[in-house]
Amino acid sequence: MRIYKAKDYNDLSRKAANIISAQIIMKPNAVLGLATGSSPIGTYKQLIEWYKKGDLDFYEAKSINLDEYKGLGPDDAQSYYHFMHVNFFDHINIKPENTNIPNGLEEDAETECARYNSVIESSGGIDLQLLGIGCNGHIGFNEPGSAFDKETHCVTLSENTIGANARFFASRDDVPRYAYSMGIKSIMQARRILLIATGANKADALYDSICGPITPSVPASILQLHNNVTIIADEDALAKILAEHDIMPGGHLIDRRDGTDK
Ligand code: GLP
Repeated sequence: MRIYKAKDYNDLSRKAANIISAQIIMKPNAVLGLATGSSPIGTYKQLIEWYKKGDLDFYEAKSINLDEYKGLGPDDAQSYYHFMHVNFFDHINIKPENTNIPNGLEEDAETECARYNSVIESSGGIDLQLLGIGCNGHIGFNEPGSAFDKETHCVTLSENTIGANARFFASRDDVPRYAYSMGIKSIMQARRILLIATGANKADALYDSICGPITPSVPASILQLHNNVTIIADEDALAKILAEHDIMPGGHLIDRRDGTDK
């Protein structure tokens, strides 16, 4: 695991976009695992800017998104389909048929989860998975308590997540109660993972994920077992970690209390 401190949100977005663009440059037909939420918006903006300057080409790239609210379709302004188009896909030259998002309008969870698992499998696997993190340590919509061995599944959203995401809806009651999410197993199969975190409300989740025990009650803690994880976070999100650790130039954490390497 390598951890990098960003000066601010722009710096974080630029660093994350640099890693994603390096992936596309090295493998133009890379499969990108993409995320929603407010954290990656700046990353997408930066990638769009570089694409418009002619420095990046998404023509051969493929994308597989982490999740979608069950019950929301492409026309719903709160759907992740809509989010991805407005914030990224509509501004770059990725082919629409190469983008994948769970179908929130499929009522039969078994059908949709099986379809999405076969999308992931037939893509040849995700080269680079971008992740945000929920305040309760969730990744995708894998809530605390989710088994680590799950592939795509239908999730009952926690009250914590409903509350955190209510800001995007007219009221808390409008937040869907269910979502389709790629499972932890699918996320862990990505060849490389890039997690971004910003703001003081992520400090506990980030600390527990990186420094705490590996446990389903903190879904992101499983990332400690992946062999290629990069975390980029701002000072506020890193506050609790930095109170006990130093980040070395290679991105490794050293515990100041006993000198151990994380
Ligand atoms: C949602 C998404 C997650 C995202 C999380 C944090 O629940 N399903 O993928 O990481 O929100 O969002 P934000 O970046 O807005 O804090």
